Amino acid sequence: MFNVKKRDVMFTGIQPTGLLTLGNYCGTMCNWKTIQKTYQCFFCIADLHALTSRNNNYIKNSFSTTILDMVALYLSCGVNPNDSTIFVQSDVYTHSQLYWILSNFVYFGELSRMTQFKKKLSINKTRINLSLFCYPVLMAADILLYQTNCVSVGLDQKQHIELVQKIARRFNSIYGDIFIIPDILDFSRQCKIMALQEPTKKMSKSDNNINNTIFLLDSLDTIRFKLLHSLTDSDPLSRIKYDIFNKPGISNLLLILSFLTKKNISVLEDEFKNYRYFDFKEQLSDIVCDRILKIQKLYFKFRKDEDYLIDILRFGSKKSLIYSQKNFFNILQALK
Ligand code: TRP
Repeated sequence: MFNVKKRDVMFTGIQPTGLLTLGNYCGTMCNWKTIQKTYQCFFCIADLHALTSRNNNYIKNSFSTTILDMVALYLSCGVNPNDSTIFVQSDVYTHSQLYWILSNFVYFGELSRMTQFKKKLSINKTRINLSLFCYPVLMAADILLYQTNCVSVGLDQKQHIELVQKIARRFNSIYGDIFIIPDILDFSRQCKIMALQEPTKKMSKSDNNINNTIFLLDSLDTIRFKLLHSLTDSDPLSRIKYDIFNKPGISNLLLILSFLTKKNISVLEDEFKNYRYFDFKEQLSDIVCDRILKIQKLYFKFRKDEDYLIDILRFGSKKSLIYSQKNFFNILQALK
């Protein structure tokens, strides 16, 4: 019924919360169009993971419109629903079932050492949900359920993926080769995009200073403003040089340009060696705006057609269920 070819599997997930940023785009999304030519890709909208971020005062919020926003953005970034599978995590029950099984193969101490959890704990010591603690186990279920060969994530998820590998190895050492050990995709190319005003910290969608972050749906004027006013380094020569320690601002802008143009940093340094900061930023703004405009045009076209987006999710859930159930039954069989 479904044309599932035997190819290596790539899995990725994004929570349907808030808007996606240029950091998300450079870190993972800009590779998706090409990845799906080589891999069989599963794009998961991680709505169960997103439940963990509404614990503050238990606010009631609905994910249904943000889920459709997300599908439209996936499509605008080049995901082809005929080649790849886009689905909502909570539509596929095997995820939460495997989550429970895997929670028996991970130690309290291991989860306590996750830096993302420790950060959340340091912000809110008294009202921290169990779900935030177990978050990486659900991620392990997502990934291992599809016999995933590689995962497309930003660098901030590295520690979680290493834990997933550990859980899979532990399970395999008892029950035989049940799980494939997943890798991070194209790890050598991975670097974090930093905040525009504070280039020593990560660009994040939840930053209090909106000038730190470029959102994929920001207006082009806003994007240009944020880039032209980004913090650059005090250097009397204003050289365009990649040097994270002494010139974190310019290095970050060079990195963005390198992701978008697919040119090496050294080639860009050479190309811009006679530019002043301002001219460099203008050129960068043109390139960023050009790319984002293309994404936005497609986004607004796709987003209008809700029936089409819902159809994609319906088809994706069916396909993911059939695919994951096969693996899930093997896992259950091994446990008996
Ligand atoms: N935790 C990931 C993030 O916040 C989202 C995610 C959920 C994910 N499940 C996943 C990423 C499985 C990769 C694979 O970015």
